[in-house]
Amino acid sequence: MKKGRVTTFDLREKKRKGEKSTMLTAYDYSQAKIVDEAGVDMILVGDSLGMVVLGYENTLAVTLEEMIHHGKAVVRGSQRAMVVMDLPFMTYQVNRDDALRNAGRVIQETGAQAVKVEGGVEIIDAVKGMVEAGIPVMGHLGLTPQSVGQLGGYKVQGKDKEAAKKMFEDAKALEEAGAFAIVLECVPWQLAEFITDKLSIPIIGIGAGRVCDGQVLVFHDVMGLFDEFRPKFVKQYRNLREEMIMGIKDYVSEVKKGDFPGKEHIFNLGETLEELLE
Ligand code: KIV
Repeated sequence: MKKGRVTTFDLREKKRKGEKSTMLTAYDYSQAKIVDEAGVDMILVGDSLGMVVLGYENTLAVTLEEMIHHGKAVVRGSQRAMVVMDLPFMTYQVNRDDALRNAGRVIQETGAQAVKVEGGVEIIDAVKGMVEAGIPVMGHLGLTPQSVGQLGGYKVQGKDKEAAKKMFEDAKALEEAGAFAIVLECVPWQLAEFITDKLSIPIIGIGAGRVCDGQVLVFHDVMGLFDEFRPKFVKQYRNLREEMIMGIKDYVSEVKKGDFPGKEHIFNLGETLEELLE
């Protein structure tokens, strides 16, 4: 088996061979260990951590410092997966220099392998700057949560001719600028299939059908840990929230009844207290 982390080259090879790539978010050390051990190719330290970990209303409030804090833990917890870090809102949109400086900090301070940015032609200068500096960049098109205000909510994107053409142009621009992959979020599968076929870099879908080169989902959605909303494209593979509540209720009840701690959880002197204190 290949040693070391998954690389951008490995992902492109998978696309060439028609093999699917997998990506899942993680935000801390223990989650990263689980996701890595389960064999996922890429771990995304998504700015979705704003909602599922920090309790913000959306991703806009997430700071570079928060991303770096969580990214470091994920890198420490993983060995095989490529770690991709979301660049948060307003850390790459202002200009190329700003983007380069912030992406450089993220890579240098976390040890992650790549960054992800939302947008197409309007951020292409920043993407080129990062790629020229040697930073692997993943694009993100379709429903881009950092633009939720402008998009008017979390809606399917690319449904009319103009929007579909713009998305394709954006995808081509990202590929030409050197992006190694693109996430397509909440896009009709026919458009996702077209873009997947036309581009040579891997297209990773989330709510974009099974035709993409790979899939990404949010850990808390897949494991049933976040109950505030569940988008149509999410498949919940486990309900850990329920499991956890049941486990915690058992703990509370055993403590109240005096059943916990049991004999196996306590420490024994080996002599009587009187002997010890003599
Ligand atoms: O922040 C995130 O988790 C993401 C995924 C939804 C792709 O960007």
